[in-house]
Amino acid sequence: MRARRAWLAAIAAAALAAWAAPAAAGPADEDCLACHSGGALDDAKLDVDAKILGASAHAGMSCTDCHADLAGADLPHGTTGPAACGSCHEEEARAVERSAHRQDDPDSPRCWSCHGGHDVRRVSAEDSRTAPLLQDRTCLGCHANPEIAGRHALPVRESAEDFEQSVHYRALLGGNPAAPSCTTCHGAHDNVSHKDPDSPIARPNVASTCGMCHAEIAQEFAESVHGKVLAEGNPDVPTCTGCHAEHAIRGPKDPRSPVHPSHIATTCSHCHENERLAREYGIASARLRTFVGSYHGAASRFGDSTVANCASCHGSHGIRPSSDPRSSIHPSNLARTCGTCHPQAGLNFATGKIHVRDLPEDNYWAWLVRRTYVSLIWAVIGGFVALIAVDLWWRFRTRRSRRGEA
Ligand code: HEC
Ligand code: HEC
Ligand code: HEC
Ligand code: HEC
Ligand code: HEC
Ligand code: HEC
Ligand code: HEC
Ligand code: HEC
Ligand code: HEC
Ligand code: HEC
Ligand code: HEC
Repeated sequence: MRARRAWLAAIAAAALAAWAAPAAAGPADEDCLACHSGGALDDAKLDVDAKILGASAHAGMSCTDCHADLAGADLPHGTTGPAACGSCHEEEARAVERSAHRQDDPDSPRCWSCHGGHDVRRVSAEDSRTAPLLQDRTCLGCHANPEIAGRHALPVRESAEDFEQSVHYRALLGGNPAAPSCTTCHGAHDNVSHKDPDSPIARPNVASTCGMCHAEIAQEFAESVHGKVLAEGNPDVPTCTGCHAEHAIRGPKDPRSPVHPSHIATTCSHCHENERLAREYGIASARLRTFVGSYHGAASRFGDSTVANCASCHGSHGIRPSSDPRSSIHPSNLARTCGTCHPQAGLNFATGKIHVRDLPEDNYWAWLVRRTYVSLIWAVIGGFVALIAVDLWWRFRTRRSRRGEA
């Protein structure tokens, strides 16, 4: 009853205000607030706090600047459409319209999903939803939401908590403004899928996106065997994210990082233990098995992180085949490569094969000895089995012939 009376009073006040104001100006803020504040309407959600608007980047704007369809409308009004942010911010609106955040999709973010409605902050403000440290919550609110992610087959589903463990987020948190947030790599209004060839995260562009900040590494990588082949459009070599992951990037000292010394062998071996890739590219196979079987591999399995891992001998970004004279494993460079840890290493020390498979071309004598050894074992076991068989047969026969005699 009280609400109804307040409502009627509000209508009266609004009508009065509308009558008092010049006809062309349309409703003033006070007209709107007559209903939309102080609990005048039954629904508390329809209450608007003008102070919030006053403290926003849009202080001084009137209600109908955004609720543009109510400009010049008769009050009380009918249903209203969405806020017209794009009427002033045309460029942003066009970019969003062209992005993966298609505005005909109800799950896509609207301007206010990322900026707020009445409480829009300047993007430089620390408490803005778009501030580098808060973006992950804003974006992952949808991208880590299983329902939305499921409906759109969205590939990124890690939670904000996971992202906050990454080296980049931790650097931001530590006050390093040079570290990337979501929009550094994806853009703010022009977010597109990696399938779009112009996307900063399309496979051929990832290295230059990371290279905005890690320029030397990106250059080194571009000249490596992986980088060169990647530039030709090869789908099987890694780009930065193939070894570091897309988002949960951690430095090499973090024990959970795929490039921590204890995990490098596994990271490289996703591909270098793969027989199909070895056949297809004519590259040596069984790198992990032969590494694990080596003295370095054996020691690292027992937790020694000072021994050589794949990257100690091959490098991490400038990896080249052994035939390339600039390769760390070119025969003329091996003494230096091994010498970083074996200072007394001479050329002789370094000539032994590192990846020794059980093949004649890898180490003929080792192969021959192993083959002979295995043949001998089979000959001995076979001999024993034959001897026992003959013995049994002999006993069986003599017993039968004795029974026959009896
Ligand atoms: C006479 C009272 C009254 C006045 C004056 C009034 N409104 Fe409303 N407004 C309402 C009511 C009631 C609703 C709920 C309508 C509904 O749910 O269909 C509403 C709904 C809205 C909505 C939609 C909210 C939503 O969640 O869908 C917006 C936006 C809005 N009003 C803005 C304005 C603006 C801007 C003005 C001034 C130009 C204004 N209103 C003036 C009563 C009023
Ligand atoms: C900068 C643009 C802008 C201005 C100015 C603005 N609004 Fe809004 N308003 C919005 C947006 C955007 C939403 C939707 C927010 C959402 O859905 O989260 C909204 C929502 C509303 C709603 C629905 C309830 C709510 O709070 O979500 C009402 C009612 C409303 N506005 C009334 C007003 C009134 C009255 C004024 C003037 C005092 C006003 N608005 C000024 C952008 C604006
Ligand atoms: C309101 C929910 C919502 C918010 C907030 C949101 N997104 Fe999205 N995003 C989506 C939806 C839904 C799609 C999928 C559209 C489609 O089906 O192609 C999408 C698609 C994308 C894509 C393309 C992925 C693909 O495979 O098509 C990128 C990149 C992206 N968003 C990045 C971001 C970033 C960065 C932010 C924060 C600045 C963000 N999103 C905020 C809902 C959201
Ligand atoms: C997916 C989230 C998202 C959506 C949707 C979004 N913005 Fe933004 N917007 C941002 C972020 C984040 C920034 C901060 C700039 C940056 O990080 O590059 C920004 C910056 C801005 C700026 C400051 C100028 C600039 O370009 O840096 C304006 C103005 C703006 N947005 C308006 C809009 C409008 C209008 C819409 C709707 C058409 C919109 N935004 C939709 C995330 C979004
Ligand atoms: C009537 C024109 C108008 C409308 C409508 C409007 N804005 Fe603005 N917006 C402005 C102006 C003017 C500024 C302040 C620009 C300045 O001072 O540099 C601003 C500032 C901003 C900023 C901060 C930009 C910065 O550089 O930090 C964001 C974000 C923003 N608006 C988003 C929105 C969103 C979201 C909507 C819709 C809910 C919206 N605007 C509706 C005119 C408008
Ligand atoms: C350092 C750069 C970087 C940062 C920071 C970053 N991303 Fe990504 N993001 C990438 C790369 C690279 C991919 C991989 C694309 C691929 O190969 O599928 C990706 C993939 C995505 C995808 C899937 C897009 C697609 O088309 O498959 C979404 C959505 C996404 N990121 C959202 C986010 C959000 C949200 C944040 C912030 C919490 C964020 N990203 C931070 C680089 C980044
Ligand atoms: C083949 C796997 C691989 C690829 C591809 C790769 N990295 Fe690395 N990255 C590593 C390994 C292994 C380490 C650890 C090296 C160490 O501990 O010395 C590392 C270390 C790093 C480091 C920290 C240490 C340093 O050297 O400063 C950064 C930064 C880095 N990588 C960035 C990149 C970028 C950017 C790209 C793409 C241009 C990239 N990586 C491509 C394997 C890779
Ligand atoms: C906007 C700049 C920027 C971009 C883009 C960027 N990074 Fe970084 N990266 C940094 C900063 C800053 C640090 C932190 C350095 C520190 O705190 O020691 C860092 C740290 C790292 C580290 C850990 C280095 C260490 O020694 O612990 C790795 C690995 C890394 N980034 C890989 C990448 C990869 C892969 C990409 C692309 C997907 C990328 N970064 C994109 C700025 C960037
Ligand atoms: C995503 C799969 C992938 C990952 C991860 C990967 N590589 Fe490769 N690598 C390849 C492919 C494919 C080639 C063959 C490229 C060509 O020659 O066309 C190759 C080539 C090489 C070569 C040259 C081989 C030759 O005979 O020409 C070396 C050495 C090498 N990789 C070492 C490494 C090391 C060390 C790591 C880990 C730090 C690593 N790779 C990680 C796929 C991978
Ligand atoms: C102690 C140093 C050392 C370690 C550790 C090591 N390699 Fe090698 N790797 C070599 C040398 C030397 C060669 C060339 C001669 C040979 O085949 O033994 C080679 C050859 C290769 C080749 C063939 C390249 C070519 O051009 O012939 C690939 C691929 C390869 N290694 C990958 C790996 C991977 C993956 C790991 C880790 C699981 C690893 N290596 C660990 C030293 C090492
Ligand atoms: C990152 C440092 C590092 C690099 C690079 C390295 N090694 Fe080693 N290597 C070690 C360590 C540490 C041990 C001792 C392992 C153990 O037994 O605990 C070792 C052990 C060995 C042994 C066993 C006998 C001995 O001296 O203890 C041989 C042989 C050997 N390395 C050869 C090589 C060759 C050949 C290369 C170059 C292709 C090489 N290493 C590169 C660290 C390295």
